[in-house]
Amino acid sequence: MNDMLKTTPDFSIEQAKLLLAEHYCLDGTLSPLDSERDQNFKVLAGDGGTYILKIVNAAEPLVESEFQTALLTHIGAHAPQLPVPHIRKAASGASLAEATSAHGVHHLLRLVGWVPGVPLAQTSRSDTALESLGHLLGRFDASLKGFMHPGALRDLDWNLCNAGRSAERLHHIADVDDRALLERFLARFETKVVPMLPKLRSAVIHNDANDWNVLVDNADHDRIAGVIDFGDALYAPVIAEIAIAAAYAGLDHADPIGAAAVVARGFHAEYPLLEEEVDLLFDLIAMRLVTSVTISASRRAHTDGNPYLAISEKPAWVLLRKLDAMNAHFATAILRHACGFEAAPGARTIARWIAENRKTLHPLLDRPAATYPADLVPYGDPTHPMTVKSAGERPHEAQAIWEDHCREHGADLGIGPWGEARTVYSGEMFVSKMIDNTRRNRHLGLDLFMAAGTRVYTPMAATVVSVEIEKEPLGYGCLIALRHEPAGCPAFVTLWGHLAHEALDRLKPGDRLEAGALVGKMGAPNENGGWAPHLHLQISTDTSLSATEILGVGEERYLDVWAELFPDARMFAGIAPEFYEQKGRSHQEIVKRRKELLLPNLSISYDKPIKFARGEGVWLIDDRGRAYLDCFNNVCHIGHSHPAVVEAMAKQAATLNTNTRYLHDNIVAYAERLTATMPGELTVTGFVNSGSEANNLALRLMRAHTGRENAIVLDWAYHGTTQELIDISPYKFQRKGGQGQKVHVYVAPVPDSYHAPADWPVEEHGKRFAESVAKLIAAMQAKGGAPAFFIAESIPSIAGQVFLPDGYLEQVYRMVREAGGVCIADEVQVGFGRVGSHWWAFETQGVVPDIVTMGKPIGDGHPLAAVVTTREIADSFNNGMEYFNTFGGNPVSCAVGLAVLDVIEGEDLRHNALEVGNYLMAGFRAMQERYEAIGDVRGMGLFLGIELVTDRKTKAPATEFARAVSNGARQRGVLMGTEGPHDNVLKMRPPMIFSRRDADHLLAILEETFEAVTAKG
Ligand SMILES: Cc1ncc(COP(=O)(O)O)c(C=O)c1O
Repeated sequence: MNDMLKTTPDFSIEQAKLLLAEHYCLDGTLSPLDSERDQNFKVLAGDGGTYILKIVNAAEPLVESEFQTALLTHIGAHAPQLPVPHIRKAASGASLAEATSAHGVHHLLRLVGWVPGVPLAQTSRSDTALESLGHLLGRFDASLKGFMHPGALRDLDWNLCNAGRSAERLHHIADVDDRALLERFLARFETKVVPMLPKLRSAVIHNDANDWNVLVDNADHDRIAGVIDFGDALYAPVIAEIAIAAAYAGLDHADPIGAAAVVARGFHAEYPLLEEEVDLLFDLIAMRLVTSVTISASRRAHTDGNPYLAISEKPAWVLLRKLDAMNAHFATAILRHACGFEAAPGARTIARWIAENRKTLHPLLDRPAATYPADLVPYGDPTHPMTVKSAGERPHEAQAIWEDHCREHGADLGIGPWGEARTVYSGEMFVSKMIDNTRRNRHLGLDLFMAAGTRVYTPMAATVVSVEIEKEPLGYGCLIALRHEPAGCPAFVTLWGHLAHEALDRLKPGDRLEAGALVGKMGAPNENGGWAPHLHLQISTDTSLSATEILGVGEERYLDVWAELFPDARMFAGIAPEFYEQKGRSHQEIVKRRKELLLPNLSISYDKPIKFARGEGVWLIDDRGRAYLDCFNNVCHIGHSHPAVVEAMAKQAATLNTNTRYLHDNIVAYAERLTATMPGELTVTGFVNSGSEANNLALRLMRAHTGRENAIVLDWAYHGTTQELIDISPYKFQRKGGQGQKVHVYVAPVPDSYHAPADWPVEEHGKRFAESVAKLIAAMQAKGGAPAFFIAESIPSIAGQVFLPDGYLEQVYRMVREAGGVCIADEVQVGFGRVGSHWWAFETQGVVPDIVTMGKPIGDGHPLAAVVTTREIADSFNNGMEYFNTFGGNPVSCAVGLAVLDVIEGEDLRHNALEVGNYLMAGFRAMQERYEAIGDVRGMGLFLGIELVTDRKTKAPATEFARAVSNGARQRGVLMGTEGPHDNVLKMRPPMIFSRRDADHLLAILEETFEAVTAKG
């Protein structure tokens, strides 16, 4: 202490003035400034400049003074624009001068420029100011890259590398709890930080950017005006610079980690930090404070309590207690995020992986969650009675309100979204530990509300981490944590809260759960923490957090950090994005505008129309995010929005689209591939844009070849929308608005075995039905005419999914050809491998048509259609008139057609159609044994029908029953149609990618629906 007194300079103002004149040839007015060890004077010089004259403590080793001088000189040379004190050299030309005190002690002198401004400590320390401080420190440290000096290597307790020495000063801390707190930080420092120290980037840093050493602009407190006092500068880890600035920025700050985050963000922008540096920041901030309070305590023990020493002691303790109370992981997540890093390592990869692999995940509920009609649980509305009852711990009343709501709105699933602001979290446990006077109110899980007992399954394989019971009111009740380690994705944890206690006996840590395995059941209020029954599902990308550490509700300010640490589980749970955001016009408005703007005879399916927003594989997703299993729409043959089709289309559209008058590879390649699926005689292709156009072209080919008109068609057939096709479509011309049968049109009965006269032996059905065609030909001939053509769907679909009896087409084709006509197979609905066993349904009858028309499934939704015929017929058509079709055969359409064939072949979808089709048929037949209404079950591959009757003997149509089943299935999220003259045949044509799981879904819904419709009677 005595040494210190002797070496501390104590020059009078007058003496200092003399020194100024002697060494710097300056006069001026001097005023003393505070200093711990040295003596500083503010100089208003006669030359108009303002300076600080520093008289250095004689105890300071020369090398240190030289170091500081060298440092300022370096900055002066490399970053002269940085707002730091710049050295004014002495008259001798030296950067340091020398003076001797009255005690005969030699002191060094330094004159530096005055940096104007207000200490940051005296301002409100806005985020803008703190970020600007980070920027300045970043620029400052960047300018010191490569600078070194022996004086930078001195041993200082303030070097954060030496923060462990605080342990030796702990005995100066009297309070046991305070000491224990410091010990906790010291223990973390030893285990977490010390092993990393040698690996950190080190450089010369300021090392004391406390808020008295940082100046802000006098007029604009958000702008940092300068950094002063280089007395603690030394060679240390770069990250310590931010830790120190952040420690002081956090003093008396409502959100100390937020303050640290903005400092770090500013620094990072100028001097990019490394993740491993940011990961230590929280502990380094704490250790700066630990160093500070222990040094203060130690000095207090050695001096009479210099107030300067204790200047930041109290706020430092307050901050230490806050840091001690908060979860270091969360603080680090905030700091990492502020620097643009993932809040937890791997967080973004995990979110991406889940998004990319969501289609492979198993349903979390009995069925895919998106298939349940869902509604928002009103916890976002603080005044809603359900919210009020829930917050008031009256779960049964809350549940009753929710059940009423579901009944009224037809909802089966309640969704409590991630990120929602909620007032239900009213207890003490929801007070923020990060930000003063703030509550945690943003929900970080995804709530799924269903009845108590509802089973929940893991969407992907998992290992049980923990199973526990949280007893606190409005806690989690039974809480399960699972760890998932999918290949190609960092491990993550899912948290399942509010479950029934049964899981405690069933699962234990370490248990392996396969994808789709039962996790638990939604608990009743007495088991689930006192809530209306629901599952709180949450993902944590930080696998080191225990189940109870995972933050279920977070501070609004850090929502973007929580979004990475605890990402929304909606995709994991299978909730569609459309649930959260509805786009476009309302149903009512669209219906109204359709009426005003479109042809009025466009029909709309269902009394309550559906507005689909998206298609994906076997699913159609409506504008509220409900997914419907599409078992009806055979256009999207290989699934909705098939990526291969989309890609082929986009790629070709982005390259070239033109017409057939120019050469292009696609049309030829596609014709080659398409005809390769056909019998050898069918070699010539014509490309068009719709099934109707295909049939129209077929009729032109036929006419050119035969020169005749007479048509033989099957009853209840439909072949297209032009007048010429309406005329050969009994389904149209015989019904409302139709003009009846034209003279050239002959209608043969539908060869429907199920409705064949009882006395016809089954093996003769083909022959017997064919006889009716013979009669028509005879009738034509009797009038002196002859058939031009016979056209039929190879499986009459509109007539009610009717499968032709064996030998039928063979006999009819022979008769028609013998009479000089041609045979046209309409494969618009049934082609492209749908029957599984063959590419084309006509093949199942062992015939080769003269002309085949195809459409619907050919382009998986893209408007494309084709006609394939023989060389002979094609040549007849080539009569000198050009055939030109603007869009037919364009490169984009052909690219799409090729992609569809690639997928059917590449994924062996015909085989799939056969297998899944047979599985469904077996399921339907089993149902037929339980439900009298099922008169007949028919199918080939994925072309399926169930005929419903009121009486199996009379086979009277059960039209109402069929309608009820179709509507009931729609209500339950499955789309199918009714068909046939009496609309009593359930028609199903699911996409070729239909899986066994999809088939089970369809069977389950059908079963449920049949049961409900049968029960209604
Ligand atoms: C058997 C059959 N042929 C032809 C067509 C006409 O096809 P498009 O509507 O593409 O013109 C249809 C349409 O439903 C059809 O079912």
